[in-house]
Amino acid sequence: MKRLAIIGGTGLEQMAGVESVQRSRVETPYGTPSSELMRVTLNGRELIFLSRHGEDHSIPPHRVNYRANLWALNELGVDSIVAVAAVGGITERMGPGHIAIPDQIIDYTWGRDHTFHDGPEVEHIDFSWPYCGELRGELLDAAASSSVDVVDGGTYGATQGPRLESAAEIQRMEQDGCDIVGMTGMPEASLARELGICYACCAVSANWAAGKSSQEITMDEITQNLKTGMDRVGAVLQALL
Ligand code: HPA
Repeated sequence: MKRLAIIGGTGLEQMAGVESVQRSRVETPYGTPSSELMRVTLNGRELIFLSRHGEDHSIPPHRVNYRANLWALNELGVDSIVAVAAVGGITERMGPGHIAIPDQIIDYTWGRDHTFHDGPEVEHIDFSWPYCGELRGELLDAAASSSVDVVDGGTYGATQGPRLESAAEIQRMEQDGCDIVGMTGMPEASLARELGICYACCAVSANWAAGKSSQEITMDEITQNLKTGMDRVGAVLQALL
């Protein structure tokens, strides 16, 4: 059986409905993970939960220690990760409230510690298909069985943050082929691949990306859409187990 972890993002700092929690603080050669690793039981199945921005939501996207997070999960024997992420919607099918299981990534981040392959051995991973096909399929099946509408596929554009994008940046990203924009998808996905961990993303659209609506993007709007979106993600995760 898979050893599954969930990395919770904005709006999912803590797991609801869990039956037991056993916490461990793991130190890694790359530093301290964003939160304690929580061994929880959900629907009778054990999984590990990690809060990407910290349980008190104090770590901005560009300061997340992605290497420590992935290393710690690997240390605990995790072989599959569902990353839950808040995103902005760029294309028509990704309006606020929609959930996507993306199948591609474009990385616009910079200056992050993004690899375990830092020499002296030179290694290049295959990243043609950044997300694990098998786990994506399981998430899509889980969504269908829990009657939660999700978009199958789409390209996640990972930006540096913490500021939101300009309208011109979003226009360029759309021309590049991005459907959604978020700040944490990279280097999380490629670090997982470097460790051989099967990784898929469940992305919740919290707002129209910059320039895609006439309204200013507010934290209130983001929080509100995430609240309902995360309830639906919870249903998918329950079905996945
Ligand atoms: N841009 C980047 N990240 C995000 C957004 C956005 O519009 N909304 C939620 N996360």
